[in-house]
Amino acid sequence: LDNGLARTPPMGWMSWQRFRCIVDCKLYPDDCISDRLFRKMADLMSSGGYLDAGYEYLVIDDCWLSHERTPQGRLQPDPDRFPHGMKDLADYIHSKGLKFGMYENFGGYTCAGYPGIIHHLEVDAKTFVDWEIDYIKIDGCNASIDDYKQGYTDFGRYLNESGRPIVYSCSWPYYIENKGIYADYKYLGEICNLWRNYEDIQDSYESLTGIIDWYKKHQDRFGKYAGPGQWNDPDMLIIGNYGLSYEQSKTQMALWAILAAPLLISVDFRTIDNKEKEILLNKDVIAINQDKLGIQGWWVKTISKIDAWVRPITPVVNGKKSYAVAFHSRRDDGYAYAINVSLHKVGIKQGTYSIKDVYNPDQKYEDADINDVFTIKVKPSGVVFLKAIPLS
Ligand code: GLA
Repeated sequence: LDNGLARTPPMGWMSWQRFRCIVDCKLYPDDCISDRLFRKMADLMSSGGYLDAGYEYLVIDDCWLSHERTPQGRLQPDPDRFPHGMKDLADYIHSKGLKFGMYENFGGYTCAGYPGIIHHLEVDAKTFVDWEIDYIKIDGCNASIDDYKQGYTDFGRYLNESGRPIVYSCSWPYYIENKGIYADYKYLGEICNLWRNYEDIQDSYESLTGIIDWYKKHQDRFGKYAGPGQWNDPDMLIIGNYGLSYEQSKTQMALWAILAAPLLISVDFRTIDNKEKEILLNKDVIAINQDKLGIQGWWVKTISKIDAWVRPITPVVNGKKSYAVAFHSRRDDGYAYAINVSLHKVGIKQGTYSIKDVYNPDQKYEDADINDVFTIKVKPSGVVFLKAIPLS
């Protein structure tokens, strides 16, 4: 969507994966979806270095709504959990230097059963604009397949007509892909800034690899539609939670960088370990994710059960692009497995490159012509993540 926003993949924090639909504030006083939780996350997001690293959108996912609209037909938050209303919370989030994102759902009810926006598109767009949001995720539960195109198009138009810059995230393609129908990604790129293609991420490596494998299988259909203003969204980062090991966390971050994916952390900033935090704040990986060419990378081949992925990036030297190259081990035999690789093997056509190991800058590699063979060692379910820059 050419609205001047999301020229690189959006970065921020989103509540869903970590805090789900916890609405029982007696049982979960510190974790329930509430004004208190989001103010706390806003504080830590800005004081903890995340905002400085580029994570700017704080997005409230499902379960913030009251089950009833106001007598005037407006959406309103749950009065007990959001006693100061949404505009007040937006002001607080903005006062921390952050941008404010919210969730709604196109169909009659959100996925968790709260009021949706169908039949209220215009007035609801106005409500969100009044609350001064900067980002909206519109989910696609409880709608009929024939209504999506018109609905997502109209809602996007109401947002644009408001004049307020709002990043528009559309879950529509997932809700038709999951019925075996291919989405029209060219059109999505015209009306949305990002879109979910596939299933929700869960807190496990199995879920992560399920998403990665689906992207591998279908990449040719939608990879080319990614670019400034329009991104495929393989869902939230689960780094710092319970389900991924340290190596697997580096894998998710590297693959999300290759895929030019939105970086939406879903973690509890109060309890995340420093090692995981370092992965999320890794400047070199973020720079690859945010590369201004905006080309989505792709899976090239699998060598001894190690998947090779590549993404063209800047700097462009004498017409030759640089490349991010990720080797993701799908092995589970417990040692760092050695394979011989060359840049030509991963599809790079010409040139001599300097090679940097993004996660281990102390690991030195010789400058390599595309045909020079070198050895890398990849830990089980981990990655070796390289950056190759043309020498001339
Ligand atoms: C769907 C979405 C999730 C989350 C939940 C909320 O499952 O895909 O990302 O927004 O709904 O109910």
